Amino acid sequence: MPGPAIVTLALFLIIFCLLSKAFYNRTKNKNKNFPPGPKCLPIIGNLHIFDVKNPSKTFTQLSKKFGPVFSVQLGTQKMVILYGYDAVKDAFMNHAEELSERADIPIFTEASKGYGIVFSNGENWKVMRRFTISTLRDFGMGKKSIEDRINEECDSLVQIIKSYGGKPFENTTILNTAVANVIISILLGHRYDYGDPTILKLMSLINENFKLLGSPMVMLYNMYPKLIGWLPGSHRKILKNNSDVNDFIMEAFTKQKNRLDVNHQENFIDAFLIKQLEKNPESRRYFHNDNLITLVSNLIVAGLETTSTVLRWGLLLMMKYPDIQKNVQREINQIIGQRQPQIEDRKQMPYTDAVIHEIQRFGNIIPAIVPLATTQGVKFRGYFLPKGTHVIPLLGSVLKDKTYFEKPDEFYPEHFLNSQGHFVKNEAFLPFSAGKRRCTGEILAKTELFLFFTRLFQTFTIQAPPNTEVDITPVFGFTNTPMSHKICAVLRHND
Ligand code: HEM
Repeated sequence: MPGPAIVTLALFLIIFCLLSKAFYNRTKNKNKNFPPGPKCLPIIGNLHIFDVKNPSKTFTQLSKKFGPVFSVQLGTQKMVILYGYDAVKDAFMNHAEELSERADIPIFTEASKGYGIVFSNGENWKVMRRFTISTLRDFGMGKKSIEDRINEECDSLVQIIKSYGGKPFENTTILNTAVANVIISILLGHRYDYGDPTILKLMSLINENFKLLGSPMVMLYNMYPKLIGWLPGSHRKILKNNSDVNDFIMEAFTKQKNRLDVNHQENFIDAFLIKQLEKNPESRRYFHNDNLITLVSNLIVAGLETTSTVLRWGLLLMMKYPDIQKNVQREINQIIGQRQPQIEDRKQMPYTDAVIHEIQRFGNIIPAIVPLATTQGVKFRGYFLPKGTHVIPLLGSVLKDKTYFEKPDEFYPEHFLNSQGHFVKNEAFLPFSAGKRRCTGEILAKTELFLFFTRLFQTFTIQAPPNTEVDITPVFGFTNTPMSHKICAVLRHND
């Protein structure tokens, strides 16, 4: 071997040994009572055992070997995984307080700087969460006024879909716009036309970030932020997109600040700006522009991709199962007829309600939530999780738990119906999670899903384009989405 090659090899071996030692020191488990998990390799931990196309598969295999509470290691980060409804319920019911903190995941920490609601902790999170829940309620969440806003958006959505005249089209952007308009009208007080370049740009930034979150470079960045941070790649793109979304919000609220009328709060941002004017210590400390921008951005991101992905699953599954679609339309004919759907109708529509629940269960759009971290040492099911342990309750394993759902891998609305055709709740239906961090937009999302879904099937029959097979295989990522596909929306003739 020539001299320079020997030197390079020797250097490589020395670096490898040093990294392995550093890795071992950081990750060796001093806690003998930690949940078990597979053996780790230096540097990468357990990354090599993951099925990158479908990580849920790996988790299922691990749960068979180690039980419902086990650990995995991604790089240097150990994580405890809770698999199946019983373990997840046990954690959220008996350790809600200890599981109220969001783990420090570098890409999210860097983007949010600890502000807003989704990635913040401690008092900042409590104040922002309290304000969010009460202000969303003031602006109509769970009330008639929000129903009217959604119904107006349904009118526009129906018009735009009609314009395709039953010809095939891709529905992602259209459904995204409809859902974005609902949340933006609550936050900023206005809506955008379908095709408006501002809303298209905003949605493309958000969609791109959701896609990039699952990329290998971002995973590496989350494991070794200092080492990877300065390299180009998806992590940089996410941060740039995030900053562009923040600029959009900044511009919107600066305009609003100039015309703020304290006696006429018209939207969420107005309510925040009025808090800013208060002189008490809490307002001074928490109601500043950094929190405003991150909070509004959190709500747009959390409320947009999620709700519209569920709707896309809904249209795709109805296209796949036309008999179920017919049953839904029959119930719409009987209970609603030609008038505008109201949320009150849901009580009398057990079949449609069951179908919407099953779409959310089967679609399983958030298979794993952003990790939580224990706020103190926790004894859990015979194990000990030290303070700061990252914990991931796998919502996907709950929604597909075969103890609670008869046919977990099939689309089967009967999961939510009894033998008399009445709607029945299922305690393992947790797509909005549980505990202190559960979704704050659940009521809004459920109202949107019911009104958009019933209006679409009142007006159209959704069919696959001629000579195409309907494929319901998901694209796995941070969110599970349907594969790109086209639909035909054929106007109904009151059949
Ligand atoms: C079908 C639609 C939706 C689904 C499936 C969904 C699901 C979820 C899930 C699983 C979480 C994580 C909870 C956890 O960490 O334990 C979450 C958090 C959150 N969601 Fe939703 N969500 C939806 C719609 C919305 C909407 C419309 C909004 C906005 C109004 C929203 C706002 C939030 C916020 C702010 C959080 C963070 C809560 C916190 O950390 O305290 N979500 N959502």
